[in-house]
Amino acid sequence: MAADEPQPAKKLKLEAKPLRQNILFGMGNPLLDICAIVDKDFLCKYGLKTNDQILADEKHKGLFDELVSKFKVEYRAGGSTQNSVKVAQVSLFQWMIQQPHKVATFFGCIGRDKFGDILKEKAEEAHVDAHYYEQSEQPTGTCAACITGDNRSLVANLAAANCYRREKHLDLKENWQLVEKARVYYIAGFFITVSTESILTVAAHVCESNKTLGLNLSAPFISQFFKEDLMKIIPYVDILFGNETEAATFAREQGFETEDIKEIAKKAQRLPKVNKKRQRIIVFTQGKDDTIVATADNVTAYPVLDIKQDDIVDTNGAGDAFVGGFLSQLLYDQPLEECIRGGHYAANVIIRHSGCTFPETPDFH
Ligand code: AP5
Repeated sequence: MAADEPQPAKKLKLEAKPLRQNILFGMGNPLLDICAIVDKDFLCKYGLKTNDQILADEKHKGLFDELVSKFKVEYRAGGSTQNSVKVAQVSLFQWMIQQPHKVATFFGCIGRDKFGDILKEKAEEAHVDAHYYEQSEQPTGTCAACITGDNRSLVANLAAANCYRREKHLDLKENWQLVEKARVYYIAGFFITVSTESILTVAAHVCESNKTLGLNLSAPFISQFFKEDLMKIIPYVDILFGNETEAATFAREQGFETEDIKEIAKKAQRLPKVNKKRQRIIVFTQGKDDTIVATADNVTAYPVLDIKQDDIVDTNGAGDAFVGGFLSQLLYDQPLEECIRGGHYAANVIIRHSGCTFPETPDFH
């Protein structure tokens, strides 16, 4: 679809009916992104690839302080799942003109500190019903976004986000009631490094009550180094998201013996599934190239919305935004094509702005 053709937003506004609160549930790592344009020497010093997503370890100890002292940094509320539920919430408001409040719930762990306060403030601004598990032992997690040209190297220091525990938060009666209230669930695969137990608890509930669970492959290292936990969760997953690199790594690790993204999608769709009442859907985005979608019946390529490359400010958060837009339509029980259209629309808005941020009023039209 060309950018000057009628946009999905217009049509959706006419059809909108208010959704009830807490119908979308997200759980993940709440992080404050520290973004800066860096030089090659900085990447070299900390052994970073120009385009990557990793977890911080011993050798990245000085990275965060040096980033802040040496470069001009910008702080943004981040964390993959949190980005997606925020975009879903904001999309619902802007496209459907409905009361925006608290359609989305979010769980994750933060510290009792300034960065934690910023995340709380940002969640409130986006009308997300965030119920953070707050603790004092670890500071709020951060993610260094080291930008060079069109590339970005992400280094996540999970800190407090890593302290999320089922028994300390998810199992509490008032929190579990929020889990039960939802109809659609979304968890980025990044959270597997923190609490697979929490994911499996939610997944079992989703399955028993025949609701919908979306999971994201999130980064190649999840398929490589957390394979066992990932494969415990996959049988519960109704919608699996990822980009082309994550799809390729997943395929290699699973021994699919193909590099063809459509074949990978087909094989992932056929992996064992617990809830047989819902057929799994695979959604692989590929930046400016077609999004590949596999259902039990077929594999389809959906073109993304056109955009002049000059209009792209940065593609950070494009994948998270795609998921948010997709989920906003799923909540309205829209057909799969409309969910994809919602995903492409949200991603197209986000890449015109810095980071995973939505403008007050979409300037897309
Ligand atoms: P980041 O990796 O920047 O965001 P992302 O959402 O994954 O975005 P990508 O740019 O990687 O996009 P993608 O490859 O997934 O999607 P695609 O290019 O196919 O990181 C964001 C967040 O991750 C940060 O906030 C950080 O906090 C968090 N994070 C890092 N580590 C974490 C951890 N351990 N735990 C939790 N959170 C963590 O694009 C998708 C769609 O966009 C396309 O289908 C298309 O519609 C559109 N699009 C993209 N590029 C183009 C283009 N050139 N032209 C037209 N359309 C485009």
